[in-house]
Amino acid sequence: MNELIEKRHSIRKYRSDKPVTREQIRRLLEAAMFAPSACNSRPWEFIAVTKREMLDEIARVHPFATMCATATAAIVVVATPQEGKPAGYFPQDCAAATQNILLEAASMGLGSCWCGVYPRTERIAEIRALLHIPEPKIPFNVIALGTPDETPVPRGFFDETKITYIE
Ligand SMILES: Cc1cc2nc3c(=O)[nH]c(=O)nc-3n(C[C@H](O)[C@H](O)[C@H](O)COP(=O)(O)O)c2cc1C
Repeated sequence: MNELIEKRHSIRKYRSDKPVTREQIRRLLEAAMFAPSACNSRPWEFIAVTKREMLDEIARVHPFATMCATATAAIVVVATPQEGKPAGYFPQDCAAATQNILLEAASMGLGSCWCGVYPRTERIAEIRALLHIPEPKIPFNVIALGTPDETPVPRGFFDETKITYIE
């Protein structure tokens, strides 16, 4: 298995002395935009936040993104569903872009945590209002980022019973 897949964990505590740089964010977003998408529709935009006050506001409005209070950056993945594009696939497309960010972050020694927003209407409303995201765009998630200040115990969830082999 690719070692990054094993190495990546959700990180919920970050160091303040080694902040994420603009160059690192740029690399993460290049990785995001390499993701596959239905009919190559790429129904995404990204908001890169490093402003301390805004990270603290995200932690305040999203009850499960409180780690943003120690994160030194966050990427908000914004879905941009488009008329005439394959309907209904944008969650899968945005999830693929998100996973690319998480794996690229792991490759750079950064920690990350995917904090769900879509499809929870109250979270969408909170993040939409905070970041002034107009409809029909949809805040999809918040990815907290930073240099890890915790070392999660390695674990795996492989479960043979989840597999059906047709041979
Ligand atoms: C769609 C989605 C939403 C998630 N939302 C949150 C969240 O709001 N807050 C959080 O701390 N973790 C969140 N997580 C992270 C999961 O809790 C985490 O991936 C899971 O417990 C497995 O742990 P691991 O990422 O370390 O392998 C989310 C993950 C996914 C895929």
